[in-house]
Amino acid sequence: MVFLLTVPFTLLLPAVVRAANSWNAPCHTGECSYDLKNSTHAGNVRASVTISGPTSAIADLTPAAGWQILNCNATDGAQDIRAICTGSDNDCGHLYQNGAVGTVVRLPEGCGKMPFARIAAEWTHDNQTVPEDVAQGATRRAEPSTVRGITVDTQWHMINPNRHGQVNMFVQGATGNQTLPDVNAQDLHRRGLFSSITSALHALSFNLDKSSTKTIDVSKPFSLLDKTKLCPASGLVPSRKVGLTVDVNAKAHADINYGVVASGSIVPPKVKDFGIFADFDAQLGGSVDVDAFASISLDSGKLMIFQAGLPGLDFPGILTIGPSFQITAQAVAKAQADVKIAVDLAYNINGAKVYFPPGHGSSLGTFSPSNTNLQLSADPSVSATGSLQAHVIPAVLFGVNALDGLANVDVELDLDTFAELDLTLSESKSGFTGCADVKTGINVKAAANGSFFSLFNKATVISIYSKSFDLFKKCFGNAHRRRYASIEARDGPTCDGSFGTSTTKTTITSGTVPASR
Ligand SMILES: *[C@@H]1O[C@H](CO)[C@@H](O)[C@H](O)[C@H]1NC(C)=O
Ligand SMILES: *[C@@H]1O[C@H](CO)[C@@H](O)[C@H](O)[C@H]1NC(C)=O
Ligand SMILES: *[C@@H]1O[C@H](CO)[C@@H](O)[C@H](O)[C@H]1NC(C)=O
Ligand SMILES: *[C@@H]1O[C@H](CO)[C@@H](O)[C@H](O)[C@H]1NC(C)=O
Ligand SMILES: *[C@@H]1O[C@H](CO)[C@@H](O)[C@H](O)[C@H]1NC(C)=O
Repeated sequence: MVFLLTVPFTLLLPAVVRAANSWNAPCHTGECSYDLKNSTHAGNVRASVTISGPTSAIADLTPAAGWQILNCNATDGAQDIRAICTGSDNDCGHLYQNGAVGTVVRLPEGCGKMPFARIAAEWTHDNQTVPEDVAQGATRRAEPSTVRGITVDTQWHMINPNRHGQVNMFVQGATGNQTLPDVNAQDLHRRGLFSSITSALHALSFNLDKSSTKTIDVSKPFSLLDKTKLCPASGLVPSRKVGLTVDVNAKAHADINYGVVASGSIVPPKVKDFGIFADFDAQLGGSVDVDAFASISLDSGKLMIFQAGLPGLDFPGILTIGPSFQITAQAVAKAQADVKIAVDLAYNINGAKVYFPPGHGSSLGTFSPSNTNLQLSADPSVSATGSLQAHVIPAVLFGVNALDGLANVDVELDLDTFAELDLTLSESKSGFTGCADVKTGINVKAAANGSFFSLFNKATVISIYSKSFDLFKKCFGNAHRRRYASIEARDGPTCDGSFGTSTTKTTITSGTVPASR
C-alpha cells in the first residue's frame, strides 16, 4: 500500500501569510491564533489553534488590545480576574461590541491555562486598587479607567450563537520541530475550498521532522499468572508443586511521532472534522514462558506492564491530545497438562503510518517476523490436552479531549503479538501420541473506545495488519489431528492427577524458527 501524492501540499492550501499568533497585534479582525512552540511534557510538539468569526465575536484581553490583567491565576481554568484598560478607548472598546458577555477572548500568557476563554460575566470590580506602574498607564487615557471584574471560562455551550455569531476553530499540530503549514482560517471554513482536513493531515505527516523523535525502550519481565500450590506426598507420589505460571518479557524499542488536525466551531461547540496519524518504527521482542502442571482454566485479564507518556498537545478547553505508550498482556489457559513452552514474540515494523478515523489515508508499513526461539517440552506419562494463549500488546494510546470535555475518547493503536499452543497428547509408555501445534501472530489495529461527535465511535476499527504463523505443528504415533476433549474448568490447581511429578520433561521441539518463514 503506497499513498501517492499527486499535487504538492502547499498548492492545496491557500497561499497566505501564516496566521501565527502575534502578541503585538490585537485580535480584532475576527481571527486569532495561538501557537504551542514546545510541549511542556515529554518532548517537542509544534501546534497551532486558529479561531475565526465575526469581529464582534472575538476580542483580546492582552496588552496589544490595551488591557492589563491585575489578578489572574496562570494554572487555573475558570476564574474571576481583574483587568484594567490602559490603552485607547478604541482598542479596549472592541471587547464591548455587541456586549462583552458571550465574547471569546484571547488571554495573555500567564493568565489561565487556556489560550481562549468565554466571558461569562463582566462588571465594575469592588476592588479598584491598581499597582502604581499600571495606574500611570491608565491615567494617561482620555477617560479614567475603572478596574473591571471578568469571569472567564471555557463553557462554550453557554454562549448563544445568535448573539455574536459562529466562532470557527482549526487546530493542527505534530511532534517534532517542523514549521506548520500556512492556513487561512476564514478560507478554511468557506464551503468547498477546504471541505476536508485530509490534505492538512497529509501535509503534516509528509513534512514530519523526526530530529526529536520520542524513543521508547523497554524490557520488563512480568509475572502474568502465578497459580501454584504445594501438594503433600501421598503414597508413592512425592510432594510436588502443581499449577500454572505464565511469565512474559515485555520488550520493545519504538520510535513514535504523531500529528493531528481538527476543524469545527467552538461557538456552537462541535468538531466537524478530525484526523490523527501515528508514524512509527518498532522492534518488538517480547517472549512468553509458560509452565503448566495441572488441570486448570484461567484468564489473567488484561494487565498493564509498562506505561510512558509521549509529547502531549494541549489547548485547554479546545483540544487536548494526551498520548502514551503502554504494554499490556493477557494469558488464557484451559489445559490438563504437564508442559513447558517458551516462545518469542518477535516482529519488526518499519515505516508504519496509520491514519484515524478511516478516510484520511491508507495505512503504510512493513510488518515482518524476526527469528523466533521456541521450546516445547512435556511429560509423556501424563496426557496433555488443552490450549494456551498469551498476548503481549504494545499500544499507542491517544487520549482525545475536545471542546471542554464535550467528547472524551481514547484512540488506541494496538500491536497485539500473541502465541497459541494447542495440545492433544495422550499418555503413552512409548513416547508421545497425539498432536502439538504452536502458532504465533501479530494483529495491528486502531480503534476508539467511544463516540466522537458523529465522526467515529466504538465500532470504528481499522485493521492494519493481521497474520499468524505456524511455528510448529506435529502429530506423533498414528494419531490424527483432533480437537482436544472438553476440559473441566478449574480456576485453581488441585492435588489430584499426576501433574508435577516429572522434574525433567521430554523435549518436543527446541530451536530457532528463522525470520524468513
Ligand atoms: C523546549 O523544551 C525544551 C525541553 O523542555 C527546553 O530545553 C527548551 O528551552 C524549550 N524551548 C522553548 C523555545 O521554549
Ligand atoms: C492557582 O490555581 C491553582 C489550581 O486551582 C491553585 O492550586 C493555586 O494555589 C492557585 N495559585 C494562586 C497563586 O492562587
Ligand atoms: C485589592 O487587590 C489588591 C491587589 O491584588 C490586594 O492587595 C488588596 O488586598 C485587595 N483589596 C481588597 C479590599 O480586597
Ligand atoms: C528547531 O527549529 C528551529 C528553526 O525552525 C531551530 O532554530 C532549532 O535549533 C531547532 N531545534 C531543534 C531541537 O532541532
Ligand atoms: C475512554 O477511555 C478513557 C480512559 O479510560 C475514559 O476516560 C473515557 O471516558 C472513555 N471514553 C468513553 C466514551 O468510554
